[in-house]
Amino acid sequence: MAQKTENKLDFGSKWEYAAAPESADHASIMDEYGLYINGKFVKAEGGKKFASINPSNDQHIAYFAEASDNDVDKAVKAARKAYKEVWSVMPAKERAKYIFRIARLIQERAREFAVLESMDGGKPIRESRDIDIPLAANHFFYYAGWADKLEYAFPGKKIEPVGVAGQIIPWNFPLLMAAWKLAPALACGNTVVLKPAETTPLTAMKLAELIHDSGLPAGVVNVVTGAGATGAAIVNHPDVDKIAFTGSTGVGKIIQKAIAGTHKKATLELGGKAANIIFDDAPIDQAVEGIINGIFFNQGHVCCAGSRLFVQENVKDEVLRKLIDRMGSLIVGDPLDKNTDVGAINSKEQLNTINKYLKIGQEEGAEIYQPKCSLPNKGNWCPPTLFCETSQSHRIVQEEIFGPVLTVQTFRTVDEVIDKANNTPFGLSAGVWTDKGSKIFNLTTKLRAGVVWANTYNKFDPTSPFGGYKESGFGREGGLHGLLPYVNLV
Ligand code: NAI
Ligand code: MG
Repeated sequence: MAQKTENKLDFGSKWEYAAAPESADHASIMDEYGLYINGKFVKAEGGKKFASINPSNDQHIAYFAEASDNDVDKAVKAARKAYKEVWSVMPAKERAKYIFRIARLIQERAREFAVLESMDGGKPIRESRDIDIPLAANHFFYYAGWADKLEYAFPGKKIEPVGVAGQIIPWNFPLLMAAWKLAPALACGNTVVLKPAETTPLTAMKLAELIHDSGLPAGVVNVVTGAGATGAAIVNHPDVDKIAFTGSTGVGKIIQKAIAGTHKKATLELGGKAANIIFDDAPIDQAVEGIINGIFFNQGHVCCAGSRLFVQENVKDEVLRKLIDRMGSLIVGDPLDKNTDVGAINSKEQLNTINKYLKIGQEEGAEIYQPKCSLPNKGNWCPPTLFCETSQSHRIVQEEIFGPVLTVQTFRTVDEVIDKANNTPFGLSAGVWTDKGSKIFNLTTKLRAGVVWANTYNKFDPTSPFGGYKESGFGREGGLHGLLPYVNLV
């Protein structure tokens, strides 16, 4: 509670919030999940399985089947059959009804999905409840609308689906990335083999149950769980027509090499190292909120995270003072607590990666700042972190850390900050904070980034395309542009 002095509330001292945990009683989790192939839940070949844990307390959640090459082959065959016999020949307005039903069912079960997403992946319930799950439903709604209107998206063209799509998704937005990929694929008449990430398979299997309940014809969506080898089996399967991948730039390069010279289409959504640029004429308080949201949203496990802060030199002191103040008020802890701002790091491996960069940053001579906060004893945790005194050549400025770690640099002129912002191998997103519209337009045309936010950050909408330049990958997801990877235009 805030301190009371002379009957006045003292807003200067720290508030302590009582715990407000979301109940997990209503969420049902089975001991073991199979693969969803051809409309049935089946065991993996040889009964191979792996466990998923809760990264906030190391507790075991459930076992998931580990799909072999043969299992993937069965899934692709089921998808091919459903493509030929059912989905590609169904009138588009009928396809739309199924997609619409999936959206409605996600809304109906939103509370359970939100709890499970936070348990399996470590993100705060506030985010899974208010962002991940509603946005996932919205992607299905949006693309359900396109299904029977494709001729308006591509006027004058003969539009054909691509065929069987192999979709490989990461662990940072498990259900949302599944929705980004499934909805446009289905709307355009493709069938799918989808693989969630190995640390967060729970909501994908729940989605498989939901899709099953929706009555979607068998084989239209198949979900196979497993790690990199299962993903590679999808990529290398000769009867897959399109690969949609979100994940590391390293694996993106492997995929591009693997499909070179084949007929396969691909979209790759890879890493990022976004510049968040604050000019001296920006509304500073709002900009500070935007910096916080830009880097600490989802523990910084965000490909478009605003991980490089550029502050105009004459407002550096004010911005840093307010930023440090705000960092001190962030609540780090139990993802299921409704007050939590920053949850658990998704896996031990990712925590090791982040810690490695914290060490590198200090060895490179950067100045580290972390607010004092008590972290839980169990699970994977990293406090919000700021690195000052950084320069372009620092590895922490050049490489994707994928954690709650922000680097700070200053600039004096517009041209200087454009050069600095563009000087990384990535080009996914950027943020610009200024009072001047002309400055915004100047920067949006010169920043080599797929998405540029102005006076806001990390805003997502199904109608808006998302994707990268350079090593951030290619292809767009979302909006009308997101239909293009799933059609052949003749
Ligand atoms: P990753 O790229 O290995 O994993 C992403 C997905 O790809 C998972 O489903 C994984 O099973 C699958 N996969 C792994 N190897 C594969 C292969 N050879 N063929 C086909 N699929 C394969 O990412 P990881 O190792 O979990 O994270 C490492 C780094 O990648 C992070 O520190 C972060 O920098 C970046 N990353 C970026 C993401 C983004 O949204 N852009 C998402 C996840 C990670
Ligand atoms: Mg997990």
